[in-house]
Amino acid sequence: MKIHIINGPNLNLLGKREPEIYGGNTFESFLEDLKKKFPNLELSYFQSNHEGKLIDYLQKIGYEADGIVINAAAYSHTSIALADVLKAITAPTIEVHISNVFARETFRYHSHLTANCVGTIIGLGLEGYVLALQYFQNIHSNPMAD
Ligand code: DQA
Repeated sequence: MKIHIINGPNLNLLGKREPEIYGGNTFESFLEDLKKKFPNLELSYFQSNHEGKLIDYLQKIGYEADGIVINAAAYSHTSIALADVLKAITAPTIEVHISNVFARETFRYHSHLTANCVGTIIGLGLEGYVLALQYFQNIHSNPMAD
């Protein structure tokens, strides 16, 4: 089962970016933990600070992937183009936000992506990515649970 994890702008700074909000772990080291935790999933990781590169990647993988886990970071709140590409592709997508965006500034309350995702996980730290992968693994091994 091929799952793509996609992170948007500034998430390459995890570990040194506002650790009181985003934690002290780098995504690269967390990714190693994810690969160990989900040996049956074929995990790919892509991060970009550029909206167009995120869109290009989603167009490329979005018709063949079995699932996508995306944290589009600030683009979640601004990008109609990312909303459109999620609508265009066929892979089921889960949106993740590390922080509880509803406990922060009001401009973080709305995500353009949410309506085009099967679900959204907010505020549970990096554990949100684990839960998203767990979901894909569960529906794959037990399709009736979908
Ligand atoms: C974020 C929340 C966004 O509001 C913010 O712009 C981010 C990260 C999160 O994971 O909590 O960069 O998506």
